[in-house]
Amino acid sequence: MSLMTDISQQPKKSSPLKFVWQFVRNPKNVGAIAPSGAVLSRKMAAGLGPGSRVLELGGGTGTLTRGIAAAGVEGDNLTVIEMNPDFIRSLTQQFPGARVVDHSAFEIETLPDAVSDLDTVVSGLPLVNMSRDNHRAIMRGAFTRLKPGGCYRQFTYRPRCPIGEDVLEEFGLKATYETMALRNIPPAFVYRIERA
Ligand SMILES: C[S@@+](CC[C@H](N)C(=O)[O-])C[C@H]1O[C@@H](n2cnc3c(N)ncnc32)[C@H](O)[C@@H]1O
Repeated sequence: MSLMTDISQQPKKSSPLKFVWQFVRNPKNVGAIAPSGAVLSRKMAAGLGPGSRVLELGGGTGTLTRGIAAAGVEGDNLTVIEMNPDFIRSLTQQFPGARVVDHSAFEIETLPDAVSDLDTVVSGLPLVNMSRDNHRAIMRGAFTRLKPGGCYRQFTYRPRCPIGEDVLEEFGLKATYETMALRNIPPAFVYRIERA
């Protein structure tokens, strides 16, 4: 029996035009001209299932959230943080069962206590547009909330992990290339970061 939820039973997708409009208004924060495609979304949700506890960073119009929800992650097990008010509204409408929080990924440590013992942090954040200090804050926060053995999964449009070796070393982490989604617009590479 498949553990995947029938995607046709999920709420209607947000229009990609909404995403493009937000990119035009704030290219640095949005960080991509188009929302992630379905293939990348499935790859970012690999290994997740009912009972997995997940925090998504930078939910946007919900394309990765859809893949996570389709894997069976729901209710209190799924928290999505986002800072753009239009995206937050759209995420709340599409995923009424999830915890959608207006919160910065730089302040993961100040999320409600219930967001803990995570299996995976799934990130679509535009890390290449962020400083090393921002990277430190994200790694510190994510690995405080992840349980032992949990991992942080990030996609990026360049074929190397956007978190530098120095920051990984500082937190005792290692990065591994997992897969790519060549037909995504733009093509994307997926990295997994975990405790070394
Ligand atoms: C490249 S888009 C990815 C959107 C969606 N996850 C996808 O894959 O289509 C990056 C998202 O991160 C959000 N974002 C940027 N900086 C953030 C921050 N500090 N905290 C939370 N979200 C942030 C943006 O608003 C945007 O929705």
